[in-house]
Amino acid sequence: MTLNPAALDAYWMPFTANRQFKKAPRLLTQADGMYFSDDRGRQVLDGIAGLWCVNAGHNRPHIVQAIQAQAAELDFAPPFQMAHPKAFELAEQLVQLSPPGMNKVFFTNSGSESVDTALKMAIAYHRVRGDGARTRLIGRERGYHGVNFGGISVGGMVANRKMFGTMLGGVDHIRHTHDPARNAYSVGQPAHGAELADDLERLVALHDASTIAAVIVEPIAGSTGVLIPPQGYLQRLREICDKHGILLIFDEVITGFGRTGNPFGAQTFGVTPDLMTVAKGLTNGCVPMGAVFAQQKIHDTFMTGPEHLIEFFHGYTYSAHPLACAAALGTLKTYAEEGLLTRASQLQDTFAKALHSLKGEPHVIDIRNLGLVGGIELAPLPGEPAKRAFNIFLDCWEQGVLIRTTGDTIALSPPLIIETKQIDRLVETIRTALRRVA
Ligand SMILES: Cc1ncc(COP(=O)(O)O)c(C=O)c1O
Repeated sequence: MTLNPAALDAYWMPFTANRQFKKAPRLLTQADGMYFSDDRGRQVLDGIAGLWCVNAGHNRPHIVQAIQAQAAELDFAPPFQMAHPKAFELAEQLVQLSPPGMNKVFFTNSGSESVDTALKMAIAYHRVRGDGARTRLIGRERGYHGVNFGGISVGGMVANRKMFGTMLGGVDHIRHTHDPARNAYSVGQPAHGAELADDLERLVALHDASTIAAVIVEPIAGSTGVLIPPQGYLQRLREICDKHGILLIFDEVITGFGRTGNPFGAQTFGVTPDLMTVAKGLTNGCVPMGAVFAQQKIHDTFMTGPEHLIEFFHGYTYSAHPLACAAALGTLKTYAEEGLLTRASQLQDTFAKALHSLKGEPHVIDIRNLGLVGGIELAPLPGEPAKRAFNIFLDCWEQGVLIRTTGDTIALSPPLIIETKQIDRLVETIRTALRRVA
């Protein structure tokens, strides 16, 4: 199916260079396993799991069948004061995979909603326990936490913030961890930078801990260009939060569901947060769904007052939607049967070796990796930030490989079913592009 140019007019595309796209559309029409098909009938290798979400690969039978059957059985069930069995079954299964003590699950429909839910939960938690002055939220420079007002307020990517006014009040940011001068070409976690967590002490000294509700960070910052946490950094952040009674929120929207070699980044890095946001890989990207995991103690704090009253005034019409729950259950079954939640730990050395073989190619100034996440940072074209990486993206697309770029970094996150020969193809395609794109 090919669309004529007029048919492209009405759709205002998200996070897209609309005018450029509509001059030369890139249309995906089908997907199976590691590949998309496009409207030119080509097979395109998926180097980014769709958008960090299709972790089990495309068109997986358990998921497809679960969605089809669910649509015919129960299309919708109101989630307020009502429920359906699969919501409980899914929450139960998720808790089995989660880091220690994170045994309550609140459903949303996206990563952005998960983030805003977690921020609200954190502020309300302190208030319910009688510490209502703790309302301040701390994010991190270069963080990405979706696009809603809470998420962009704690986020730290300037293009996502500068157009949108003053956002939430009472938000501050710790420093980011990107330090190419000391850490360029680190394989896995960089050696330098644990002390950057101490920046939280600076904000405590400025605002006083008694005003701070929570700190939110991505264990691996993905959308800002794949920043791997320095060794010991997350541990130190956890210690400082504990010392001051500040909740630690991990935004695991991309690190969740096997990306780092364990179900969650928290397990890979050995640090357990108080709240954890997920989305994307929860349903293998097939139906929109997100979730917030909460420590038992946070949930229990809300469970006071008369039993007929709502404890947390928050939720979405589509929280725990039956189609999403069915898709998630089919996804977890696929992950379990194929060992996908730990497969990245088996592949990461092969992936790292292939990726780091690009050191020395034109324009490459840093390479970062962990599990099945890779970042290749390029020197920007003088005066034209992001253009060189975008040109590489277009070249790879013409070669039949889908990559993603953010700023001047190529970000890779292939489906966890990827085979060695496909890793090689991905990297060789990028090499070819680097050598011929100015
Ligand atoms: C860490 C992180 N948080 C939140 C989001 C937002 O998720 P969504 O686009 O589903 O709202 C993303 C999306 O890439 C993300 O990477």
